[in-house]
Amino acid sequence: MASNLVSIERRRFGQTMRKDGWWVAPLLTFLGFSAFIVYSTWAAFQGEHYSFGPYLSPMYSPLIWEAAGQQLSGHAWLGAWPAWLPASILVQPITPAVLILWAPGGFRFTCYYYRGAYYKAFWADPPACTVGEPRHAYRGERKFPLILQNVHRYFLYVALLFIVILAYDAILATRFLGPDGHTHFGIGVGTLVLTINVILLGSYTFGCHSLRHLVGGRCDVLSDKPAQQTAYKCVGALNKRHMLFAWMSLFWVGFSDLYVRLCSMGVWTDYRIF
Ligand code: FES
Repeated sequence: MASNLVSIERRRFGQTMRKDGWWVAPLLTFLGFSAFIVYSTWAAFQGEHYSFGPYLSPMYSPLIWEAAGQQLSGHAWLGAWPAWLPASILVQPITPAVLILWAPGGFRFTCYYYRGAYYKAFWADPPACTVGEPRHAYRGERKFPLILQNVHRYFLYVALLFIVILAYDAILATRFLGPDGHTHFGIGVGTLVLTINVILLGSYTFGCHSLRHLVGGRCDVLSDKPAQQTAYKCVGALNKRHMLFAWMSLFWVGFSDLYVRLCSMGVWTDYRIF
């Protein structure tokens, strides 16, 4: 009698029958994410050149206190670095960016899209669909430590607050100090850079899976709630391009910091459009 039983052989790490370039996406993710982590860590520990005129690097916003030893830029909420706060622990500098980057960093790290991407790219778990992985046990996200990824929804609330703050920064980036000592409306290339930054970050944040669940995903029927249904559709439209906005916003945050930094260092000139 014919048998329908098929024996499935466990593949060795990297072994697959796929003929396509399955390794390209994880490799690009690895390179892109690594480059951002290296740059953002370096920038966060600098503690200088994070503002230029009305511009403030998004990696230092909100600027709670001016970095230790820096002159007041007008961006700090509470003024100079307080004496009770150490400027470094051992050899590790404590900067305004170090105080706040846990929030956007935690939001990205626990993002559903990024999780799928870096599990593949950094942990090879698995490297891609139907490609052999280096471990045999599957723990999933139901046990410690990966169960902590569920904190994402709480990071979302903080990330939404950051969008408001960065939008305010983009508005402040239109207020240039004139020769008369007063601020005047204007637009420089930096204004556009910071405005694009908040638009991309907003598109990424408002397309969050947790937000989609929050605004409508948890309801069985939305048709009798028109406002909620519209919000759900908007979040859903952004959610469809979540990966695109994740990468664009990641790149642009880094570029925005670089732009402000190089202008502050006198390497780049910030051109005024009007
Ligand atoms: Fe990506 Fe929430 S799922 S930001």
